[in-house]
Amino acid sequence: MKPLRSRFEKDTAKVVQNYTESISFDKRLYRQDITGSIAHAKMLASRSIIDWDDLEKIVAGLTSIKEEIERDEFTFDPSLEDIHMNIETRLFEKIGEVAGKLHTARSRNDQVATDIRLYAMDAMYETIALLRKFQNIILDLAEANKETIVPGYTHLQRAQPILLAHHLLAYFEMAQRDLGRFEDCIKRTDSMPLGSGALAGVPYPIDRRGVARELGFCEPSANSIDAVSDRDFIIEYHAAASIAMMHFSRLAEEIILWSSAEFGFVEIDDAFATSSSIMPQKKNPDVAELARGKTGRVYGNLISILVTMKGLPLAYNRDLQEDKEGFFDTVETLNSTIEVFAGMLESLTFNTEKMQQAASENYTLATDVADYLAKKRVPFREAHGIVGQLVLLAISKGKALHELPLTDYQNLSPLFKEDVFSITLESSVTARNVPGGTSPKQVERALKKARRKVNE
Ligand code: ARG
Repeated sequence: MKPLRSRFEKDTAKVVQNYTESISFDKRLYRQDITGSIAHAKMLASRSIIDWDDLEKIVAGLTSIKEEIERDEFTFDPSLEDIHMNIETRLFEKIGEVAGKLHTARSRNDQVATDIRLYAMDAMYETIALLRKFQNIILDLAEANKETIVPGYTHLQRAQPILLAHHLLAYFEMAQRDLGRFEDCIKRTDSMPLGSGALAGVPYPIDRRGVARELGFCEPSANSIDAVSDRDFIIEYHAAASIAMMHFSRLAEEIILWSSAEFGFVEIDDAFATSSSIMPQKKNPDVAELARGKTGRVYGNLISILVTMKGLPLAYNRDLQEDKEGFFDTVETLNSTIEVFAGMLESLTFNTEKMQQAASENYTLATDVADYLAKKRVPFREAHGIVGQLVLLAISKGKALHELPLTDYQNLSPLFKEDVFSITLESSVTARNVPGGTSPKQVERALKKARRKVNE
């Protein structure tokens, strides 16, 4: 059968076949395509558009094709262009001319749009489940490090002490918003194109609502032209995926830094690190580096589909076939990144002593000393200046702030009393007892709240 050559007198040139085929990548849509076809065929029978015994043959044929594909016994043929024509052609081979009835009241345009929406929803549900798993690991790590103090950084310079749990919970919040973006995108992806035909709808008494229900969509699409020609749900997916990858890339960067000898805060488990072909001592954070690198490709996929779409007149144009490769690539990249990060974090060792040591160096309590004066009604800007002088003095003496005698403090301000020495890493974090702050009490509350969210 050459189903697509109806008015042609010649075969497609080989170069054109190679140029236009999509089977090499859209074969991933086989499950959605077959599920969609079965739902469509059932509806055609229920509306007396095809006979019930035709339906039986079509369903049996499609089911056995699905099994062939899953057993890896199906030969995908590039001369048949795409997944839709490959499956339909095989159906002809299996059940004969009856196969030709399946495409009644349908076009590949509404078919492919349905397939890709189903695929996207499945992918996003998987992403959401993976993000939940990642969040649970973050929560366990935070729970185990409620007392560990680490230096917090700004400009990658030691800034103020914070709880490691607080730092980790920042990633929980990022994942929570990422999750929300996918949930939101699912709402707009959840719209069924079948019944839109090529672009104008179809002249049969079809039941779009029934097909939508059967396929798990909440409703049929509202406009046939829009349904076959828009891919904004894919763009939205790419945008959400890009943001999520950006978050993982930042975490990757911290793991890379923290596992370096210069920081020495964490050690990556052997199972999640790689070695060097020349330097026997090396343990490299390749997983994190690749996540950082792959983020660039995911951004590229977003830009690519945005550019593909921007000049397309309504309705379907073949350019739309270009929606797939980048999309599949991003789905695979994002989901595998979350999965591998979950494993890497779960097995990460924290060198809490080193972290605590680092937190106590480089005058990280200077802000607390300024706050000490500000609480005695010294304008904060003035207190900042006084403590700046104190830090300068300490640097010149090669000492930490708490190693300076009280007289050095009092030379700068008579308001300094012996109790200034009760400023410690612990008192510093405990003092930041505002909602969203790093105090143990607030972190405990944040942890509880986060646990409730993941269990929702
Ligand atoms: N392979 C095509 C795609 O992915 C399927 C739709 C083809 N429709 C058409 N009118 N040529 O977009």
